[in-house]
Amino acid sequence: MIDDCNLIEVPKISDGRGSLSFIEGGVHIPFDIKRVYYLYDMPGGSDRGSHAHKNLHQFIVALSGSFDIVLDDGKDKKRFHLNRSYSGLYVCPMMWRVLDNFSSGSVCMVLASTYYDADDYIRNYEEFLALTTQKNI
Ligand code: TYD
Repeated sequence: MIDDCNLIEVPKISDGRGSLSFIEGGVHIPFDIKRVYYLYDMPGGSDRGSHAHKNLHQFIVALSGSFDIVLDDGKDKKRFHLNRSYSGLYVCPMMWRVLDNFSSGSVCMVLASTYYDADDYIRNYEEFLALTTQKNI
């Protein structure tokens, strides 16, 4: 369900030298972190994602700049705007996501609950809808 995905603020410690934020798996976000990846050098107008994951939990942070994430649970859609280094979006499994509207020079960090597994992806939207409809019956 889309309401299971929410923006989470993580600690931010600021002083005259700048700011520091940290994220502990199972403490600030609801899963243990197995993998970190990041997106950068996105050309203007590009989008990423356009898939869902069967089992993967993710936490997505705009480390620099800003972008949007559109989540779709097969029934409802919601657009989130990320533009803070101390706040991120928790994305639960079985959520179709599209990332777009990247500002120039933006960096998107993703914390993931599992190692990379190509078999965990659902890349076909019709297949995704069929799976979510089955679940909702
Ligand atoms: P993909 O997940 O399709 O990117 P996005 O959702 O941002 O559009 O991944 C792009 C490519 O990178 C694809 O060939 C798989 C590879 N990849 C890895 O090898 N390891 C990873 O952890 C990730 C996220 C992707």
